[in-house]
Amino acid sequence: MTADNLNGRLRIAVVIGSVRKPRLADPLAAWLERELAALDWVDVDMIDLAAVSLPMHELQPRGAAASPIAGRLAEADGFVVLTPEYNHSFPASVKNMIDWHLVEWAYKPVGFVGYGGSGGIRAVEQLRAVFPELRATTVRESVLLPMAWKHLDTAGRFTPPPGAVEALHAMMSELATWARALRPARVADLAGRP
Ligand SMILES: Cc1cc2nc3c(=O)[nH]c(=O)nc-3n(C[C@H](O)[C@H](O)[C@H](O)COP(=O)(O)O)c2cc1C
Repeated sequence: MTADNLNGRLRIAVVIGSVRKPRLADPLAAWLERELAALDWVDVDMIDLAAVSLPMHELQPRGAAASPIAGRLAEADGFVVLTPEYNHSFPASVKNMIDWHLVEWAYKPVGFVGYGGSGGIRAVEQLRAVFPELRATTVRESVLLPMAWKHLDTAGRFTPPPGAVEALHAMMSELATWARALRPARVADLAGRP
């Protein structure tokens, strides 16, 4: 990130949290990518954790240069985490990805698209307790998709229920506000790093 490149477009990394095969994340991520592509102020980077190797036994307490996605996270102005709910929380794959990094999160906003029986609300709310430790802020608006598997057509394509697109736009708008507002803190943080 430079001081200038936040005046216009924002780079948003979307993290696909589920690594299962098969997974509901696929049609939901495809929908998300389609919707975000229609926003003219966003450059989207889809980060699929199923395609990323972050071995837990190589985890470092302050993040690791060995991460294949550290550069992509560092480049992002903000994040959207697409997370299912597993046993009333978020998946281990999401926590591992968070733990693998540190400065990449600092002074950036994080929004959530949750799914599960109750829309992934417990996963989302628990992630809100994690991100401040990384100096990231979570945005109020979120997208919750209860029983999203009921909204797949015969081709397996996700058709959002009423209100989902509006919720996504509200979240992205807030994400942009925070991404721009946090710009001075990010520039100062970068300047102050050894
Ligand atoms: C291990 C496991 C635990 C789950 N626990 C919950 C749960 O506590 N609450 C819930 O609403 N759904 C739960 N589910 C259902 C998932 O939210 C649902 O299957 C979702 O589609 C999984 O996303 P994925 O297919 O992209 O991994 C669980 C699924 C798995 C695999």
